[in-house]
Amino acid sequence: MSILIKNGNIITATDNYVADIFIEGETISAIGKNLQVKADKEIDATGKLVFPGGIDPHVHLDMPFMGTYSSDNYETGTRAALFGGTTSVIDFVLQTQGKSLQSALQEWQGRSNNNCVGDYSFHMAVTDFNENTKKEIRHFIEEEGITSFKTFMAYKGALMIDDRQMIGLMQEVKKHGGLINVHSTNGDMIDFLIAKHKAEGKLSPLYHYLSQPEVTEAEASGRFVDMANYTGCPGYIVHLTCEGALNAVRNATKRNQKVFVETCIQYLLIDASLYEKEDGAKWVMSPPLREKKDQVTLWAGINQGIVNVVATDHCPFMWEQKLMGKDDFSKIPNGHPAIENRMELLFSEGVNKGKITLNKYVEVACTNAAKIFGMFPQKGTIAVGSDADIVIFDAKEKHTLSASTHHMNVDYSGYEGWEVTGKVKTVLLRGQIAIENNECKIEKGFGKFIKRNKVNSKI
Ligand code: URP
Ligand code: ZN
Ligand code: ZN
Repeated sequence: MSILIKNGNIITATDNYVADIFIEGETISAIGKNLQVKADKEIDATGKLVFPGGIDPHVHLDMPFMGTYSSDNYETGTRAALFGGTTSVIDFVLQTQGKSLQSALQEWQGRSNNNCVGDYSFHMAVTDFNENTKKEIRHFIEEEGITSFKTFMAYKGALMIDDRQMIGLMQEVKKHGGLINVHSTNGDMIDFLIAKHKAEGKLSPLYHYLSQPEVTEAEASGRFVDMANYTGCPGYIVHLTCEGALNAVRNATKRNQKVFVETCIQYLLIDASLYEKEDGAKWVMSPPLREKKDQVTLWAGINQGIVNVVATDHCPFMWEQKLMGKDDFSKIPNGHPAIENRMELLFSEGVNKGKITLNKYVEVACTNAAKIFGMFPQKGTIAVGSDADIVIFDAKEKHTLSASTHHMNVDYSGYEGWEVTGKVKTVLLRGQIAIENNECKIEKGFGKFIKRNKVNSKI
C-alpha cells in the first residue's frame, strides 16, 4: 500500500514548509515538492497542517489503582488517543511489592497484548528495589526494550520507595544506559497532612489539594535532582505542576545538570479553584491542580526549554468510581482523562493563543518524548525512513469538547463545553489510515509494542 499526501504544510520540531509526502508500506519514502509518483491513494492536504503523530509518554490504561481499575483499557484508550492525534503512548507497568519486575510485565502484557489500536510502550515502575530487582534491570533495558524505570516518592505503603532504594536503583539504571522517571512529591509530608485533615473532619475534595501543597513537590523534586546529580543517572520528572519544583530543576541547570521535565496539559490550563465545585472529585489527581501563577511558570518553562514534554497522565475513572471517595477525599481514585484532548487543547490554547510556536508544539507533543525515551527518529518526526505516523490538521476548524462526543471510556469530560480551534482530521499510523471522517479505520491488535533504545541524556 502506498499513500501520497499532497501539498500539506509540514511542521516538525525545526521546520515549516509545504511539500508532498510519499509513504510506502509503514514508512515515509520520499518528501519533496510536486513528487511525481504513483500511489494507491492520494490525500489532498492543501491548506492543512501536517505534523508527526503525537506521543503521550504518560498514560495509565486498565491500571489497578486505589481499589479499582482505570476505565480506559488498551483498546478504548489507544483508539481515543488516535482520534486526538496521538499515535503512540507509553504506559506504566507497576511492580507489586515483594514480587519481581518480570511477573508484573507478564501481568501487563496479559491485558495489553493484541488489544492496542495505536502503538505503545511501557515504563517499568519499580516499587520494591532489592537484590533481586537489581538483577532484572539489565534484562529490561537490553532484552525487553524497556529503558525507563518509574519511581514514586509518594503513595506510601503501596508504590513509594525510600531514598536508599532510589540511589541503588539509579546506580544500576545508569550502569546499563537507562533513565529514571519520578513522581516527585514528598509522601511522608502528604500522609501527615491527609491524616491531619481527616482528623479535623475535613473530607471534601478541596482537602486533597490542601494535603499536597507546593512545598511537597518542590522539596521532593529538589531531592530527586540532587540524587540524580550525585549518581549521574539521567532523570525525568513526570507531571511537574508548579513554580517551586521547576525552580529546583532550573537551579540544577546552573551546575550544567540536565533533568528532563514533563508537565501535563491540565496543569497548563485549569487550576485549583475547581476543587471548590460540587463535582471537584473530577479533578482529583496527584499532584493536584495548582494556581494561575504556576501555569505562567510552566508555559515559560516550555519556551525556556526546561519543560520538555507535555503529556496527560491519562488515568480516567467513571463518576461512579470517583464516588468511592464521596465521604473521604483520600478514597477518590486519583486521575484525570485527557488522552484524546491533549493535542487539540495544546494547539488551541498554546499555538492559537500565541503562547508557543508551531515548532515548539511539535517538539513538546511529539519529538522530545521520542528522543528522550529512545524512539527517535522511528517516531516523533516526519523524515525519510521514519514510521509514517502523521496527523493532518485543520488549524481553523472550531469544535466543542464533550463527554457526549469523545471516545474515551469515561462518562464526563474535564473540559465539558470548551470550544477549541483546530481539529485532527486524518491520522496515519505506520502508513495505514487510522482516523478519517471521524471514524477509526483500524482494529485492536494493529497497535504494536515499541521496543525502545537506550536513552538519550542530551536532546
Ligand atoms: O492522579 C494521578 N496522577 N493518577 C495516576 C497515578 C500517578 O501518580 O501518576
Ligand atoms: Zn504520578
Ligand atoms: Zn501517572
